[in-house]
Amino acid sequence: MKIAICPGSFDPITFGHLDIIKRASKLFDKVIVLVIVNPEKHCSFSPEERAEMISKVITDIPNAVVDIYDGLLIDYFKAHNATVIVKGLRAMTDFEYEFQMALVNRQLCPNADTLFLTTSAEYMYLSSSVVRQVAKFNGDISQFVPKQILNTIIERLYKKDTEE
Ligand code: PNS
Repeated sequence: MKIAICPGSFDPITFGHLDIIKRASKLFDKVIVLVIVNPEKHCSFSPEERAEMISKVITDIPNAVVDIYDGLLIDYFKAHNATVIVKGLRAMTDFEYEFQMALVNRQLCPNADTLFLTTSAEYMYLSSSVVRQVAKFNGDISQFVPKQILNTIIERLYKKDTEE
């Protein structure tokens, strides 16, 4: 079975992520959407909340599952007999960092290839931080994230800001 891992912070998941996950699901037998816990990064949502949002928006992708991992991606990759790591690339600005990560992962495990899918043009500008910024001011994020998670995001980010 060919297993792809789509790792990320997903704080929160966006239509851009979903596009990559859907495309990966057509290329591989199984896609694991992996919420990585990064202690160096302050996230607005807990890993469990991020995973729950993901599970709500991947219901129509039968071969996709979500998981949470606190550790090195490559250790998860090996433990789950994964075939490939799939990442989305939006622009050259993503490239240097992603290139470095792919090389480090391959250094740690020589058969761990990273497959880069170019973003669909309509999502080139989209990122989780864009969603957080717009949601913070109660802006319309319906074009950025699926409707199933709209309220969770707005309630958390808008309320939090006005309460401060
Ligand atoms: O969505 P992001 O924040 O760009 O995702 C980055 C992520 C979580 C995929 C990356 O930071 C990662 O793989 N972290 C796990 C730690 C790890 O394995 N690092 C590689 C060696 S430096």
